[in-house]
Amino acid sequence: LDEARAAIARHTRLVADFPSPGVQFKDLTPVFAEPAGFSSIIGALAHGCPEVDLVGGIDARGFLLGGAVARDLGVGVLAVRKQGKLPPPVRTVSYSLEYGTAALEIPADGLDLAGRRVLLVDDVLATGGTAVAAATLLREAGAHVVRVSVIMELAALGGRATIAEGIGPDIEVHALVAD
Ligand code: PRP
Repeated sequence: LDEARAAIARHTRLVADFPSPGVQFKDLTPVFAEPAGFSSIIGALAHGCPEVDLVGGIDARGFLLGGAVARDLGVGVLAVRKQGKLPPPVRTVSYSLEYGTAALEIPADGLDLAGRRVLLVDDVLATGGTAVAAATLLREAGAHVVRVSVIMELAALGGRATIAEGIGPDIEVHALVAD
């Protein structure tokens, strides 16, 4: 974890006034491009994970992370995709964004998720809306999300509370760094 935190501190690209004035955006792209950065992050995301049999990677940076974490844990991976990418039939859950709505989708066919224990992985937890939508989608398919692991939690946006309210208090929220 110390190695992952050091890589995050050292290689995150800080962008002033993005996406809006007064906001400092933290771009993790250079951290992923560092060999030691990527592997220490993957190890830290997987560390201490309760027994799971599937990793769900959330579109889009969660795909990069989720595949590697799944490999680390020796389980399969499911891409939880933004709307409109998958062929039908699909399951869809919509969620609110600052302006408008978005939706996440998984296949509704050919994939048995009943009783599966899932680790959800993403890069950032902000309001929690995306994580709640992904967990809802998996729950509707009969799976049980046991943990959400992210690299960075923007604590002021209250994602943890939103997940506890939206999914339940037992779900573990695991962040490598908080901001
Ligand atoms: C970002 C981030 C998370 C989500 C967190 O993705 O990668 O998935 O926002 O925000 P929330 O907790 O407020 O829901 P974004 O929706 O920007 O999509 P992208 O990964 O395709 O850039």
